[in-house]
Amino acid sequence: MKRTKGIILAGGAGTRMYPMTSLYSKQLIAMYDKPMIYYPLSTMILAGVKDILIISNDETIPHYKRLFDDGKHLGMNIEYAVQPEPKGIAQAFTIGEKFIGTDNAVLILGDNIFYGYLNFLREAIENNKAATVFGYFVKDPERYGVVEFDEKGKAVSIEEKPKKPKSNYAVPGIYVFDNSCIQRAKDLQPSKRGELEITDLIKTYLDEDSLQVQKIGRGIAWLDSGTPDSLLDAGTFIASIEQRQGLKIGCIEEAAYKAGFIDKKGMKKIIRNMPDSYYRAYLEKALEHRE
Ligand code: G1P
Repeated sequence: MKRTKGIILAGGAGTRMYPMTSLYSKQLIAMYDKPMIYYPLSTMILAGVKDILIISNDETIPHYKRLFDDGKHLGMNIEYAVQPEPKGIAQAFTIGEKFIGTDNAVLILGDNIFYGYLNFLREAIENNKAATVFGYFVKDPERYGVVEFDEKGKAVSIEEKPKKPKSNYAVPGIYVFDNSCIQRAKDLQPSKRGELEITDLIKTYLDEDSLQVQKIGRGIAWLDSGTPDSLLDAGTFIASIEQRQGLKIGCIEEAAYKAGFIDKKGMKKIIRNMPDSYYRAYLEKALEHRE
């Protein structure tokens, strides 16, 4: 069986978030109690993806390397690649060509946060035939890629930030593709805004009738953080859940432990190397609970 390689796209100019993003890319900014990229990384871990390529700009890559190194301590393989200029989400597949090799690919945007019972992701990755994307009901679909369904629930159109959305279903920034996504990305033409659009790539599958679109139900929270307000909202949401339950969201070490990527010994070693902090205290407790 083919493996699925994961890509986290964590670049972008981040100009909308200036001056927060003057030093490094947005995905390193704190979302409540951890850097934003911890959330998409933990989503990948919970989906069972062990091989990850982090794509960002030249200046930011060294920071990610300091955070995650080669990922071995997490039982993973984490690699890095530079996107010299933000030329669109679909470019991730040409940048990641060597990393993906002959495998399938799952791409997550570094500012997309998923919370809830995420088994649907693991299943989508395991069952993907050609392309699987998701539909999430939102109030303001015009801000996103929008998918329209017929009466039978089959996807019939997909449009990027339409002025008049044909439905309320936004396409979240997580996409599962077969290996042909690399060639398809190479064949794309830049859009009016000069980007290789993920929506255009998805459309090539839709046109061939090989696209699966799964609606994500109410039990899942999908948040993004492209504006200062949405960043604050997402942070507040995470803080409420963490404070109520005493359980962390986006805790990559705990996720790796739960996913079986590392054992107790591995977890203890990670904890030993951590500075004395609330985060470390949490992990120590998380380990105790399983003992
Ligand atoms: C991108 C995609 C869009 C998708 C969104 C999810 O938009 O182009 O289709 O719905 O991510 O976050 P962006 O946020 O880059 O404008």
